[in-house]
Amino acid sequence: MAKLKAIKGHIIYTKVKDCFEIHENSYIVIDDKKIVGIYNELPDIYKDVAIIDYGYNSIIIPSFIDLHIHAPQYLQMGIGLDLELIEWLDQYTFKYEALFSDVNYAKKLYPRFVDALYREGTLRSCIFATIHNESNNVLIDELKKKKLSAYVGKVNMNQNAPDDLLQSTECSIEETKRFIEDSNNTGDSIKPIITPRFAPCCTSELLEELGELSIEKQLPVQTHLSENKKEVEWVKSLFPNNKNYSDVYKRHQLYGNQKTILAHSIYLTNEEVEMASKEKNVYLVHCPSSNSNLSSGIMPVTYYLDKGINVGLGTDVGAGNKLSMADVITNAIQYSKIRHVYNEEERVLSLSESFFLATKMNGSFFGKVGSFEKDYYFDALIIRDPDPLTSCLSPLERLQRFLYCGSSNSIVERYLEGEII
Ligand code: GUN
Ligand code: FE
Repeated sequence: MAKLKAIKGHIIYTKVKDCFEIHENSYIVIDDKKIVGIYNELPDIYKDVAIIDYGYNSIIIPSFIDLHIHAPQYLQMGIGLDLELIEWLDQYTFKYEALFSDVNYAKKLYPRFVDALYREGTLRSCIFATIHNESNNVLIDELKKKKLSAYVGKVNMNQNAPDDLLQSTECSIEETKRFIEDSNNTGDSIKPIITPRFAPCCTSELLEELGELSIEKQLPVQTHLSENKKEVEWVKSLFPNNKNYSDVYKRHQLYGNQKTILAHSIYLTNEEVEMASKEKNVYLVHCPSSNSNLSSGIMPVTYYLDKGINVGLGTDVGAGNKLSMADVITNAIQYSKIRHVYNEEERVLSLSESFFLATKMNGSFFGKVGSFEKDYYFDALIIRDPDPLTSCLSPLERLQRFLYCGSSNSIVERYLEGEII
């Protein structure tokens, strides 16, 4: 009984993408880390449990998950966004990432990055770090200090970047193995993820060894796919024997053998769309803010969803200019409306769908996360608008206000696995 508690308020979440589950003034009963059930009236067997009542002006929602973010780009956010991908990488990103050869720089920047994740209610994320393990370990320590959960990847590159960001294949693999060992020793909340930056920065040999490592260690994979038209052409010229960009990863066992995040995935051929729709482990991650900033394009989200593909959402900070997943949820809807205007056959993404992607779909990468169904981890945000003027709003209207025009100031409490963090 001691580990049981009940959280009271207006509860909103999505079980399926097409509608919200809304329980006004109800109780979520939690046993240690996990949800037992939601009740309108507390059943007799729970009448003695501790109740935390958040009141009529709060809503309780699943906390956010970001499936694609670059920690070292936190300072770079908003800079150089008048460029396209390859120029942006060359002129800004690689220069900023090289700074992490100095662990003291990481010690200054990573606490700020992790604080920002916490503040925005992104309690779990899939993070690209850099090639530098000493700095990568600082990131892990900071995430642990703030009690956040994450997959963190040591980035792999052995070609097409400045010399100070390149490692030989052998060194890149050795350092990846060392990173896996270090991060596996830090407990359950932080886990390693195999991270080839993207095909242009990796030789076939490096991709092959990373694929083998992911299978041997049963580790998920994250990388970029088909973000920019020039990039797609570049990959064709670098890997002429592969059928398409997705096939480059597939042939190197980096596509669907383990859970796989493919950020952007905008310019997929029909064949690649069919391929993704057959892979339960593959998540195509939409990063709308980044894609508009770098003039990359817009993912056809609803087309992919209707094909049964797992579509996740990410900020892609620093090409994305905000850490807020509320912004990503609303941007995804706004950009899908623009696609719809130019192609009426492609339907608009609904609010419940976009919310579902940022919570239950993104959460499925971590396990039973992102929903308030029985046996899910209780990961939640308490959102409060103290202005008495808003007392007439329904719980769903409160959620809409928060997503479209709220800020992290409205997040008054954060729960990860049943604990206030
Ligand atoms: N492709 C390869 N590296 C990157 C990166 O750092 N950001 C984005 N948006 N795309 C990439
Ligand atoms: Fe990215």
